[in-house]
Amino acid sequence: MRAAAFTDLTGPDGVAIVKQQTPSPGPGEARIDVDACSINHHDLWILDGASAMIDPTDLPFVSGLDVAGVVDAVGDGVTGVESGDRVVLCPNLTCGSCRFCREGPENLCASYALYHGGLAEDARVEADRLIHLPDGVATTTAAALPTAYLTAYHMLRRAALEPGDLLFVPGATGGVGVAAVQLADVMGVRSIGTSSAASKLESLTDLGADHTIEGTDPDHLRDAVREVGTPDAVINHLGGAYTGLGLDVLRRGGRMVVCGRTAGPTSELDIGHLFRTHKRVIGSTMGTQADLERLVGLVADGDLDPRIDRAYPLDETADAFAAMRDRETLGKLVVTP
Ligand SMILES: NC(=O)c1ccc[n+]([C@@H]2O[C@H](COP(=O)([O-])OP(=O)(O)OC[C@H]3O[C@@H](n4cnc5c(N)ncnc54)[C@H](OP(=O)(O)O)[C@@H]3O)[C@@H](O)[C@H]2O)c1
Ligand SMILES: [Zn+2]
Repeated sequence: MRAAAFTDLTGPDGVAIVKQQTPSPGPGEARIDVDACSINHHDLWILDGASAMIDPTDLPFVSGLDVAGVVDAVGDGVTGVESGDRVVLCPNLTCGSCRFCREGPENLCASYALYHGGLAEDARVEADRLIHLPDGVATTTAAALPTAYLTAYHMLRRAALEPGDLLFVPGATGGVGVAAVQLADVMGVRSIGTSSAASKLESLTDLGADHTIEGTDPDHLRDAVREVGTPDAVINHLGGAYTGLGLDVLRRGGRMVVCGRTAGPTSELDIGHLFRTHKRVIGSTMGTQADLERLVGLVADGDLDPRIDRAYPLDETADAFAAMRDRETLGKLVVTP
């Protein structure tokens, strides 16, 4: 089989198409004929050599978490899926036995890890992590859901928003950002989204943002958000200076849920302001398989139409990563091996 592998961790130029042995599913596993695998900033961190998640000397590495396709073989003991089933993978890898797995939610698992290997013609996965796709849900659409929409959905649930509440999403045009805006709309929550690119704002409005702001300077964004209102929650995947900004604009008792650090791994917080205003900062990573099942249901019922900026053939995987790095995109990028 062919795979788009990371052969050097030097950015998009480090992606090469390689031939590998087609995997055979072991006990409890299934092999997927991959129709689509979306990419995430997570893959780009690895490709840039900025992730601790892989051993940089163990190359080539096949990344890709968000796999959808057709089951074409199953290993011993698999009963939940069979050849010919259309499926999407929940990329959670959990131990199933630690205190956090027992109490839930499963994404708290003490040994939590992520599946990698979807940027290839075939993928060997845990069969229990597969979700059947209803007829109306295309595999390309389903591949957009697992990381970005799952993460945004779990964050919105943790933000405990009510219909009519106001949400602030700095950097609203990428995978997690667009997902947060679209899902807020589904929940009846109003949103404010930002982008450095004026050209993306109209589309963001079409996707459900009630207010859009152009810019990246936290001082400018602080003033512009305050002109709109006082957010009940912030979805923060940027980290860095946007963390202080999020705390500043939140209402008293508001929640800021944090999942990323694109704009910086540390930030300075005003502790006195935090406790005097009863605000909450909540860390969050990915979501549960049940969350992903709900998202597939929203798509099947026509309530959610994930925004796919562009689909790329496997040979053009490096171009997809270059577009993500250069911030040329709006929504998800999907590779179709
Ligand atoms: N913990 C988790 O479970 C989890 C899950 C998913 C993602 N994440 C993290 O969340 C972040 C977003 O992931 P993603 O896949 O959605 O990424 P993405 O698609 O690349 O996000 C692009 C968005 O980020 C903005 N952006 C990019 N670089 C920026 C910068 N230096 N300053 C300000 N804004 C910037 C872009 O703004 P413009 O419109 O201005 O270009 C765009 O809105 C990443 O850090 C990722 O690792 C974490
Ligand atoms: Zn566990």
